[in-house]
Amino acid sequence: MSPSKLMLCFVVLSVPQVEVDSGVESVQLPLNTTLHLPEDAKVEWKDYRKVHVYENGSDQPEEQHQSYRDRTKMNEDLLKTGDLSLTLKYPTDGDNSTYTCTVYSREGNILLKKQVELKVRVPQVEVDSGVESVQLPLKTTLHLPEDAKVEWRDNNTKVHVYENGSDQPEEQNQVYRDRTKMNEDLLKTGDLSLTLKYPTDGDNWTYTCTVYSREGNILLKKQVELKVRVPKVVVDSGVESVQLPFHTTLHLPEDAKVEWRCVHNRKVHVYENGPDHLEEHDHRYRDRTKINEDLLKTGDLSLTLKYPADWDTDTYNCTVYSREGNIVMIKQVELKVRDCQVEGEEEAESVQLPFTTTQNLPGDVKVVWRDSDDRNVYVYMNGSEQPDKQHQDYRDRTKMNEDLLKTGDLSLTLKHPTERDSGRYRCRVYGKIQRYKTVLLRVKEQS
Ligand SMILES: *[C@@H]1O[C@H](CO)[C@@H](O)[C@H](O)[C@H]1NC(C)=O
Ligand SMILES: *[C@@H]1O[C@H](CO)[C@@H](O)[C@H](O)[C@H]1NC(C)=O
Ligand SMILES: *[C@@H]1O[C@H](CO)[C@@H](O)[C@H](O)[C@H]1NC(C)=O
Ligand SMILES: *[C@@H]1O[C@H](CO)[C@@H](O)[C@H](O)[C@H]1NC(C)=O
Ligand SMILES: *[C@@H]1O[C@H](CO)[C@@H](O)[C@H](O)[C@H]1NC(C)=O
Ligand SMILES: *[C@@H]1O[C@H](CO)[C@@H](O)[C@H](O)[C@H]1NC(C)=O
Ligand SMILES: *[C@@H]1O[C@H](CO)[C@@H](O)[C@H](O)[C@H]1NC(C)=O
Ligand SMILES: *[C@@H]1O[C@H](CO)[C@@H](O)[C@H](O)[C@H]1NC(C)=O
Repeated sequence: MSPSKLMLCFVVLSVPQVEVDSGVESVQLPLNTTLHLPEDAKVEWKDYRKVHVYENGSDQPEEQHQSYRDRTKMNEDLLKTGDLSLTLKYPTDGDNSTYTCTVYSREGNILLKKQVELKVRVPQVEVDSGVESVQLPLKTTLHLPEDAKVEWRDNNTKVHVYENGSDQPEEQNQVYRDRTKMNEDLLKTGDLSLTLKYPTDGDNWTYTCTVYSREGNILLKKQVELKVRVPKVVVDSGVESVQLPFHTTLHLPEDAKVEWRCVHNRKVHVYENGPDHLEEHDHRYRDRTKINEDLLKTGDLSLTLKYPADWDTDTYNCTVYSREGNIVMIKQVELKVRDCQVEGEEEAESVQLPFTTTQNLPGDVKVVWRDSDDRNVYVYMNGSEQPDKQHQDYRDRTKMNEDLLKTGDLSLTLKHPTERDSGRYRCRVYGKIQRYKTVLLRVKEQS
């Protein structure tokens, strides 16, 4: 291939890119041609919608998609000068796209087709869940009129509205009620930053601040992306307990209420006026949770969850309330309880599902291994094995260690494994002491 052809390839394949920061007044998608264009040509800019149409010697605003209404501009005399550049006002990252400019003759033939890619950069704020508040920074040097309106939105709803010289809390979505704050004199100082209290990962959004004149024209539009980091705790199934950490240096009121909940909104642990409110806990967590004493003094609000099971994998919220019921802070922790994974082979004599727990388990505990269809694989109670309680598929196929309660070795040996034995097995210890473990078994077919 000759160098000139290579060059041609490159020109055809690469789309010119324009990058710009959110907050600029406008951006230009440049496009010049030296072609001679007829006076009656039609020029159309599109992404997947019509962005701007020029036809019969003038712009045709009724043809364009409404999200571009009043936001686009092309030069005068564009067919004569060949400058087909498009100016797009108040770009946001929703405008990230590849834009195609096509010029048609009166007869509808394509005379020219070129593309420009637009990328709007949005500053990012990252913060840890559990902080008191986060600031979405926005400062402008524009002179803003005294009667301007300022509106912060997340993707869908109003977050904060400032109009006629004051905040308008009744305009905001209730998710943000009592959680937002803007500075005084914001129009004078140009500091339009938004403070958002006790952020959670439900607040991960790109926020857009728009300033309107009294007449409703846009004076400024700028975006900030918020990411709230949630710590992740990973633990193996079968451990005695796991801690969901939450340490705060904030001074907590003496009569504060502390509530741990999981995503499905179940109450995991409630602390109010001293003693733990066990009766309020969801039955799944009863007797399995513990929180430190003196937590309000020490600021250590960590939750200990005993014998975590695979169904404990979830995001947990710890919310601190004042006596009046106002939220003081929210911390989130993500918990993942990992299955133990075991591989077996069909030709093997047996496969072992391991589970070692506390030694010297009390004599009256019940130990049950179940398969993924909830059938009993193995049952131990009243101090001995209960083969008549096993599902027939497992009769004479299981073996446990002697002295299992004393050694705490509750591993199950499954003889003559087949591919059909693949699945999740759960071992549960019931009684004064409770334990739980899941093992994911995969038996490979004989090759
Ligand atoms: C297009 O041509 C105009 C007029 O010649 C010039 O001012 C402008 O800078 C050119 N733009 C580009 C992107 O080449
Ligand atoms: C442009 O003019 C042609 C012919 O007069 C007409 O058919 C067409 O509808 C016009 N287009 C617009 C958008 O006005
Ligand atoms: C838009 O492009 C910028 C710059 O490449 C990128 O950081 C951002 O994530 C994009 N936004 C969207 C919504 O695609
Ligand atoms: C935000 O809104 C845009 C369009 O309004 C939509 O395409 C996008 O999926 C939304 N993002 C989220 C996270 O809801
Ligand atoms: C602000 O003032 C204007 C004019 O007095 C009025 O029409 C508008 O409803 C007011 N907005 C709010 C949110 O009070
Ligand atoms: C929120 O953003 C953080 C930080 O990037 C990320 O780890 C987390 O998964 C996000 N959460 C949600 C619900 O999108
Ligand atoms: C945690 O709190 C946030 C904010 O109140 C809420 O959006 C989310 O659903 C809560 N999650 C849980 C696990 O309760
Ligand atoms: C275990 O012991 C209890 C109480 O002694 C008795 O009610 C129960 O039937 C026994 N179970 C088995 C399977 O032996």
